[in-house]
Amino acid sequence: MSAPNKSYDPVEVETLKPEEIERMRDEALAAFAAADSLDALHEAKVAHTGPASPLALANREIGALPPHAKAEAGKRVGQARGAVNKGLAARQTELEAERDARVLVEEAVDVTLPYDRVPAGARHPLTTMMERVADVFVAMGYEVAEGPEVEAEWFNFDALNFLPDHPARQMQDTFFVRGPEGTEESGSGVVLRTHTSPVQARALLDRELPVYIVCPGRVFRTDELDATHTPVFHQIELLAVDEGLTMADLKGTLDHMVQALFGADMKTRLRPNYFPFTEPSAEMDMLCYVCKGESVGNPDRPCRTCSSEGWIELGGCGMVNPRVLTACGVDPEKYSGFAFGFGIERMLMFRHNVEDMRDMVEGDVRFTRPFGMEI
Ligand code: DAH
Repeated sequence: MSAPNKSYDPVEVETLKPEEIERMRDEALAAFAAADSLDALHEAKVAHTGPASPLALANREIGALPPHAKAEAGKRVGQARGAVNKGLAARQTELEAERDARVLVEEAVDVTLPYDRVPAGARHPLTTMMERVADVFVAMGYEVAEGPEVEAEWFNFDALNFLPDHPARQMQDTFFVRGPEGTEESGSGVVLRTHTSPVQARALLDRELPVYIVCPGRVFRTDELDATHTPVFHQIELLAVDEGLTMADLKGTLDHMVQALFGADMKTRLRPNYFPFTEPSAEMDMLCYVCKGESVGNPDRPCRTCSSEGWIELGGCGMVNPRVLTACGVDPEKYSGFAFGFGIERMLMFRHNVEDMRDMVEGDVRFTRPFGMEI
């Protein structure tokens, strides 16, 4: 027989008795079952599986047992610890599932609740209108061209066949940035462009022929700001230069534009006029899109939009003057062209019943907002 195990302590090994181990296991399982949150479960885990837990301490006692008792005690403690870990994992899964379900409910968004409204901005109707008109031509293959707002007097006037003594050149109409006084040479001054027509000359000088461009932009004249005038306003210009273009092309283009903008039954009419850079030149009117002309001579059906005239004046147009073509290095024997230009503010006034031009320049969002977020 082997000698008795001196380190065998009958008090300590009490903890390794089957009933004790079962009690530890059951207490652990009960603690897990009682944990009603993941935090509480974590505390129970530390208490029942951590290094200071009763089962961990019991496990340490195994080493002090006599060899013949070790295997059995080891098996018992191991089984109990296995059952405890399994119970812990099961409860962990349960509580996590509960938490996930709760989060799904708690974090659901009630889209019907009122929210703090951030006021939406709105694009200025002048911008929208310019893009709308330009788009009609872009769809036909025209390019959008740009020119500077501070323009050489030569482009603004000379290239467009305005003679040196043309009244439009006077300081009363034109904002001069530099000259022309003090300089001998006509056309050497610098102006704020008075119309978008100088882009015609720039486009002809810049591009290969044929040229098909539209140019929306800001223009300047020395007018006082009132209900129908503003010193800064907007125009859109069109220029087509190609072989064999005629006034019929101009008329067809204008008709297409008003139909695209105002409806399929729209048309335009031309009245003779004079512009230095077109020959022949015309004033273009469009059929009144509200009364379609039916208010004319019909006192029972007055029309506010056209003052019962049946037509609305749009702007100027004509066949590009051969002098302009020559000034821009284009052979007028081979090429011809047509052009037109009109004011965007005016179009906004009659299309949207804006009565006072000052509303368009004051930048009050209450004016802009009703036009909406037209893109
Ligand atoms: N530039 C002219 C103006 O501001 C408008 C105009 C007339 C433009 C005839 C044209 C045109 O292109 O052909 O009054």
